[in-house]
Amino acid sequence: MSNQQDSNWIFDRDYCGRILNGEFSNNLKKRVAEAISLFRSFSVNANPSIPYISAWRENSDKSIWYEFVGNRLLQLLGCQSCEVAEIFRDSVLQRLTYHYGSDNEKINKKILDHHDLAFRQEELRNEGKSKGTIEAVYKISLKDRPAIWLKDQASVESFAEDQVCLSFGSLTDVTMEMMAHEQEQQEKALLLSRHAELEHKIEQQNKELWKMQLEMIYRLAQAAQFRDSCTGPHITKMSHYCDILSQAAGLSEEERQLIFHATAMHDVGKLGIAESILHKPGRLTDQEFAIMKNHSIIGAKLLSGNDTPLLRMAKGIALTHHERWDGTGYPTGLCQEEIPLPGRIAAICDVFDALTSERPYKQAWNTDLAFSEVEKGKGSQFDPELVDLFLARKRDITSIRQRFAPSPLFKQ
Ligand SMILES: [Fe+2]
Ligand SMILES: [Fe+2]
Repeated sequence: MSNQQDSNWIFDRDYCGRILNGEFSNNLKKRVAEAISLFRSFSVNANPSIPYISAWRENSDKSIWYEFVGNRLLQLLGCQSCEVAEIFRDSVLQRLTYHYGSDNEKINKKILDHHDLAFRQEELRNEGKSKGTIEAVYKISLKDRPAIWLKDQASVESFAEDQVCLSFGSLTDVTMEMMAHEQEQQEKALLLSRHAELEHKIEQQNKELWKMQLEMIYRLAQAAQFRDSCTGPHITKMSHYCDILSQAAGLSEEERQLIFHATAMHDVGKLGIAESILHKPGRLTDQEFAIMKNHSIIGAKLLSGNDTPLLRMAKGIALTHHERWDGTGYPTGLCQEEIPLPGRIAAICDVFDALTSERPYKQAWNTDLAFSEVEKGKGSQFDPELVDLFLARKRDITSIRQRFAPSPLFKQ
């Protein structure tokens, strides 16, 4: 095919390319004419893929034009062959490329929007030329028509003599698939945002619930404290001592927080003990002491009926903080590890603070004496391992005692 006459058969169908009637090499013209002939036969046979041949110059004029476009594309775009390049330039909203992630499991999608495309045309063409292939999906927004998606698969050939590149491609209408995919993505995003909204709500409600529980336990603890002979900071110091010992025992952050707050309730059962016994200045009779012992059971009952982790912990501590390691404690006489760990922790801290605090009937012991007393109870009254851990943290315990020492101004 050496001149225009040889390819006249092409011009009886609206050929709108430049190569066959331009100043190009015979080699290039031959390649284009053969490809057009072949691609026309694809179109005639109602092939679902739409063949095309696009071309661009590699020198000054870099705009793309089409040497051939299958009829089906003209129907889809509602335009003439000579308008296809312009429509693609103006109406492509997105260009999607898919590639496997580094772990070869995830398929990543790269999206260029209309704006990016305008700036990266040349880069994309060079990429196609160096790879020899182009594979992408285009979303095209058409005036007065619904948007369509076209999958483009092409191979690129470079003709150095003419400084022209040809892209022999096939477009497939994937609008249905991509719309379904878009809808699925939107539904997923909607579900995710609803899920996040719900999680946020639940988190807020949990925070509220936690605040309410704390408020309730501290009010109850305060009420019990008003009736007790303990000095004000007993509950606060207990919480801090228990936290130090819980940390030394390797408990988790969450368990430590529960013990810290739940300890405030250890003597809440004293609300149910007669004032004559609670405030008796002298020694309690056996009968009075038996009544006094009931405060652990009354406390546990007061804290029953609500199954939150905080109240469960508070109930356990209220019930078991007077149990002894050797099984001679009350109310149940639990022995060694039958006593839950938070109860064993509270037992040590309660006694230490009682010893180091002033009461109407006694002076406060000094810290060293109180530590020795705790050590004496190792293996009989208290869990021996916990006693060791408690004594190993003497410095922290002492600093809590000093921090919450009653002000001399208010000392009676
Ligand atoms: Fe108690
Ligand atoms: Fe106490």
